[in-house]
Amino acid sequence: MPGPGLDLIGEAEIAEVVEVLRSGYLARFGPDDDPRFGAKVRHLEDAVSSWTGVHHAVAMNSGTSALLSLFATLGIGPGDEVIVPGFTYVASISAIVYARAVPVLAEVDETLNLDPVDVEARITPRTRAILVVHMLGNPARLDELKAIADRHGIALIEDCAQAFGASYHGRKVGSIGVAGAISFNVFKTITSGDGGMAVTDDPELYRRLFAFHDQGHLPLRNGVEVGARSMLGLNFRMTELSGAVLLAQLRRLETILATLRANKAMLKGLIAEQAGISFRALPDPDGDIATHLVVLYPSSQVARDVSRELGSRVLADSGWHIYTQMEHLLAQRTAAGKGCPFDCHQFYPQPIEYRAGMLPRTEDIVGRAMSIGIGVADPNLGSTFGVTIRTDQARIEAVADRFLEAAGRYLG
Ligand SMILES: Cc1ncc(COP(=O)(O)O)c(C=O)c1O
Repeated sequence: MPGPGLDLIGEAEIAEVVEVLRSGYLARFGPDDDPRFGAKVRHLEDAVSSWTGVHHAVAMNSGTSALLSLFATLGIGPGDEVIVPGFTYVASISAIVYARAVPVLAEVDETLNLDPVDVEARITPRTRAILVVHMLGNPARLDELKAIADRHGIALIEDCAQAFGASYHGRKVGSIGVAGAISFNVFKTITSGDGGMAVTDDPELYRRLFAFHDQGHLPLRNGVEVGARSMLGLNFRMTELSGAVLLAQLRRLETILATLRANKAMLKGLIAEQAGISFRALPDPDGDIATHLVVLYPSSQVARDVSRELGSRVLADSGWHIYTQMEHLLAQRTAAGKGCPFDCHQFYPQPIEYRAGMLPRTEDIVGRAMSIGIGVADPNLGSTFGVTIRTDQARIEAVADRFLEAAGRYLG
């Protein structure tokens, strides 16, 4: 099963969905005076915002929609630059592109997340935001990145798609920058198949986000009227069916986190003795959601040899996650094929180029990195080698033995 939430789908999710189907209210708006209307999406927004430690949340149909809505409502557009890691999921970059801003790729360090020093070096008068992406379940160096954003007067936006549930020095991801985007697709901590959410503490940003995702309306209309419309918006609304599944999934969150953390600690302890390997650096190990155990090998050749034996792959080979494998980005191919951001001389006269080799440190690190799945089995990341949330101790020991056998052959 792709992610831990999906693996645990059971009677609670089924009961929630049946309740919605029986109610007849499948969309997020309904009459509060009808007891059959469960307002699942609204309750989910309340639960996720309070769990995250912010005041506002807007549920959407995907994490990509949440990211695009954030850029649009923060006023980021033609002529602006947004710094984003070169190791990320492609949607982080596409959302910047469809806001018509220029993605400026930056290096990651051994955390596999943004390198603050490189980020600061890439800030120009056009930079409007840093999109920090918490990859593979673990927060980036948020203290440093927040300080840089504040020093330069630009926004820090958190892409929490792969790290819902993570925290950094006691604060949940999504509550540290101006806003955060969450994904509920099948590979994520909890899931409704597809789904997403934007979280923020800023009431004005919340009103704009809500409007953008609901044809321009201010929050919490009844769903039929032509309400107060503050802008032209789109429709990125979440359905009550998704909201219902996610309410049941959210009740499993603490169990999911405790299980993943225990399983990862056990597996890591069993393979730590292997000579020649190291692990990804974790700025706050307690905040890790433990969906992945990332091993770093001394060379890309050894990384390739060991991962091939294990039926895995190095992270540098993921078509979804490393810019060198994103042929549509390298060719700057957009739907319209014209206009901003790549053909936008009026707003952005300087040439834009993405090419393999432009982030040598990132390519070196992800070329030596392999993920052992702890609760997320994603073939693109190679993390199908590993364990699921339903694993037992014997399976963890077997995976450790297999790893040690393969790694030992190349590393002694
Ligand atoms: C880091 C990151 N950002 C954004 C997204 C987009 O989320 P969604 O698939 O819900 O649109 C994903 C999804 O995999 C992701 O991993």
